[in-house]
Amino acid sequence: MEKVNIGIVGCGGIAGAHLRGLTQLYEGGYRDFAVTACCDLEEARASAMAEKYEAVLGIKPAVYTDYREMLEKETSMDAITIYTTHENHHDIAIAAMESGRHVTTEKPLGFTLRAARQIMDKAEETGMLLHVAENYRMAPAERAVNWAIASGRIGEPRLLNWMDIGERRWYWQWRDHLRIASGGWTIDGGVHFSDLWQLHIGEIQRVTAVSKVFDPVRYISYKSVEEFEEAQKKELPRYRPTRSLKHIDPNELKEPVDADVEDTTSAILEFSNGVIGTWVVSRSAPGRVDRSCVLYGSDGSLAWNEGIFAREGQAGSMGWQEMIDAYMESLTPDERERLFPMGITDTMAIEDKQFIDTVLGRGRFEVDAWTGYKAMAVPMAVYESAAVRQPVLLQDVLDLKIEAYQKPLNETIGL
Ligand SMILES: NC(=O)c1ccc[n+]([C@@H]2O[C@H](COP(=O)([O-])OP(=O)(O)OC[C@H]3O[C@@H](n4cnc5c(N)ncnc54)[C@H](O)[C@@H]3O)[C@@H](O)[C@H]2O)c1
Repeated sequence: MEKVNIGIVGCGGIAGAHLRGLTQLYEGGYRDFAVTACCDLEEARASAMAEKYEAVLGIKPAVYTDYREMLEKETSMDAITIYTTHENHHDIAIAAMESGRHVTTEKPLGFTLRAARQIMDKAEETGMLLHVAENYRMAPAERAVNWAIASGRIGEPRLLNWMDIGERRWYWQWRDHLRIASGGWTIDGGVHFSDLWQLHIGEIQRVTAVSKVFDPVRYISYKSVEEFEEAQKKELPRYRPTRSLKHIDPNELKEPVDADVEDTTSAILEFSNGVIGTWVVSRSAPGRVDRSCVLYGSDGSLAWNEGIFAREGQAGSMGWQEMIDAYMESLTPDERERLFPMGITDTMAIEDKQFIDTVLGRGRFEVDAWTGYKAMAVPMAVYESAAVRQPVLLQDVLDLKIEAYQKPLNETIGL
């Protein structure tokens, strides 16, 4: 195989980010792939995505609204990418592998761990490649964090404090519904963070958590207030606007919708190497936003987006950008090319290239199914611990011995 023919399933937000990544690769001279088909339940989205790929790659991908039809008709297709909502990752991945296609799927690997297991079993049975698009770890900043910890700049890690607290009152479509998303921001964003912690710090052994729905109503219609955001930024130095935490005018909230995902979880994470983590997620905490994420070690601490803090009076402190620059300078030209090919730092481009290279038999992608499975197991362990009101061993959650939270979800997808 000289080129990987890719079919895209799901042409919404994240598909656009992958389009950006593949465009960078193509324009940088990496042309070992073609996008031959685009599929979305909404034809207009599939068609718009196909036109965008045509503008970049010169050939218009075929348009489908049914992935099964795409798998059947696109006989030259080698691989598919799954960029759909969570409840159907397993159906699409399994059908694709049964038809002899390699699969890369957006996080989380599956709707539940049982669904994810089925995908992994199918990969084993068919021998097809199964890659999880888990991109956060590929950013220069996260590579630098890993390097700083591994090179002992904060000593032995001791405490992780991960605060992800703010308020979101606007309606985020399927992400507010359990039967499609399988959980709120604890799994949606948490799957990324859990991957980072396991990469940077080590295995998580035990999880003790509580979960709440403080505020089950979200609003379809709202008005965002840019001035309010600016004022907040000045007033609250920690305020960092993100897609999930934008400010809206409270007087302009209309069209309420019932959301049934949790909006708050609080968890203690015990790592196998003795590190103790505290992870709090809330989207129902008005006022002050807290996004402080800090790993404390025996000789200093590392604060995400701030930098390394040495013990008072000692050398070794550095700012965030300074740390990233020092890390980049530490790389050999070969390492730099492997981690940031053609100088590209876009994480979608990097992970997509890893997948394509692996299909072509050049090396192996970094985030395999087991890594993706473990990443989603930590947020699921938070939900399970909250459901059974007890600490849970991660191993029991990985082994599907505890499924109090996931059982009803499995039933909604027929597992
Ligand atoms: N890596 C990241 O940083 C990141 C960021 C955002 C989203 N994601 C992940 O990407 C996936 C999609 O999220 P999104 O934000 O793009 O959502 P989205 O709602 O913008 O897009 C999802 C698309 O999938 C389509 N779809 C759903 N079921 C389908 C089916 N059976 N066949 C064909 N199309 C189908 C929908 O019509 C929609 O167009 C999720 O798994 C999400 O967790 C990852």
